[in-house]
Amino acid sequence: MTEQCAHILAALKKRPGGYVSGTELASVAGVSRSAIWKQINKLREAGYGIEASTRLGYRLSSRVDRLLSDDFDGLGTECVGSRIVCYEKIDSTNNEAKRLAAQGAEDGCVVIAERQTGGRGRLGRTWFSPLGGLWLSLILRPEIAPGDAPKVVMLAACSVQAALRALGFEATIKWPNDLLLSGKKVSGILTEMAGQPELVDHIVLGIGINANIPLEAFSEELDATATSLLAEAGKEVDRVVLARRLLVELDARYRRLKRGDFAEILAEWRSACSTLGCEIELSTPTGIVRGRAVDVDELGSLILENAEGIRGTFSSGDVTVIKGEVR
Ligand code: BTN
Repeated sequence: MTEQCAHILAALKKRPGGYVSGTELASVAGVSRSAIWKQINKLREAGYGIEASTRLGYRLSSRVDRLLSDDFDGLGTECVGSRIVCYEKIDSTNNEAKRLAAQGAEDGCVVIAERQTGGRGRLGRTWFSPLGGLWLSLILRPEIAPGDAPKVVMLAACSVQAALRALGFEATIKWPNDLLLSGKKVSGILTEMAGQPELVDHIVLGIGINANIPLEAFSEELDATATSLLAEAGKEVDRVVLARRLLVELDARYRRLKRGDFAEILAEWRSACSTLGCEIELSTPTGIVRGRAVDVDELGSLILENAEGIRGTFSSGDVTVIKGEVR
C-alpha cells in the first residue's frame, strides 16, 4: 500500500461511519483533491468498501461494493441474464462477450466488469471505465436480419432510460443512442454484430453507465460533456439495484422485439429523444449537415429537414444541438 493510501485509510478509520471531506483527505495525504479519487480507487481495489458523496466526501463502509453473479438471483427474466459472468477487471466486456459468443454462449448471457482497461466507445473511441461505473455486455441471438440490428440499440436505450427512471433519474436520449442527464452524457451503448448477410448470428450489446463516478475523476475534456449518477444525485446509487433493473427492462423489450412487436419501443424511443425538434449539426463520415431533426424511422435513422424543406435520412453521426432545449 502506498504511503498516501495508508494516510487516507487512517483518516477514514478515525471517523467510523462518518464522512471525511476530499479536502481533508487531500491534506493528510499531501496530494491534490483530484488525486484523492485515484488513491481511493487503489484502496477499493485492495478490497476496502468506500462510499463517496459529492457533498460530504468519503467514508468506510462495511458493504463490499462489487457486483457478483449471486446479486442477480431470482431476477425473474425469461432470457436476459440466462448466465451472468462477473469480472473485477477485463479489457472490455464487449471483447469478452464476443469471445464467449464465439464459443457458443447462449442468448441472454451477460458479462459485467468492475473496470475495463480497454473500454471501447462508438466510432473507435475509448470509453473511460473506472471502478464505480456499470459496465456490461449482453450476448443476444435474435432471429433477425442484420439490417434490423439498429432496433436492438433502440430497445437498449429505452431500457437504460427506464432503469434510470426507476431510480429517480429522468434521462433523455440523444440520437443515436446516448443517454443524457442535465444535458450531459451519463450512458453510452456500443453494439457489435456477427452473422451472414441474411441472418444475425449474435449481437453484443455493450452498455456503460457512469454510476458512482465523482466528477473529479473525469478528464477536463470529459468533464465538459459527461456526468454521473453520483454527480447528479450527490450520493451513490446501489449498483445492484440499477443492474438488476436494467436487465429486467432489457428482457421485457427483447421479448417484444422477438415477437416482432417493435411499435411500442419506437414510440417510447421517440418520446424520450431530446434531439427531435431541435436545429442540429450532424457530423457524418462524409461531412457536416445542418437541419431540423424531424423524426427517426423504424431503424433509428435520423430524418433531417434542411432550410429548403428537403429531407435526408442518416444512419450514423455525431449531433451538436444548435437551437432547442438540451434536456
Ligand atoms: C459510446 O461511445 O457512447 C458507447 C459506449 C459503450 C461503453 C460500454 S461499457 C461496456 C461495454 N464494453 C465496452 O468496451 N464498451 C461498452
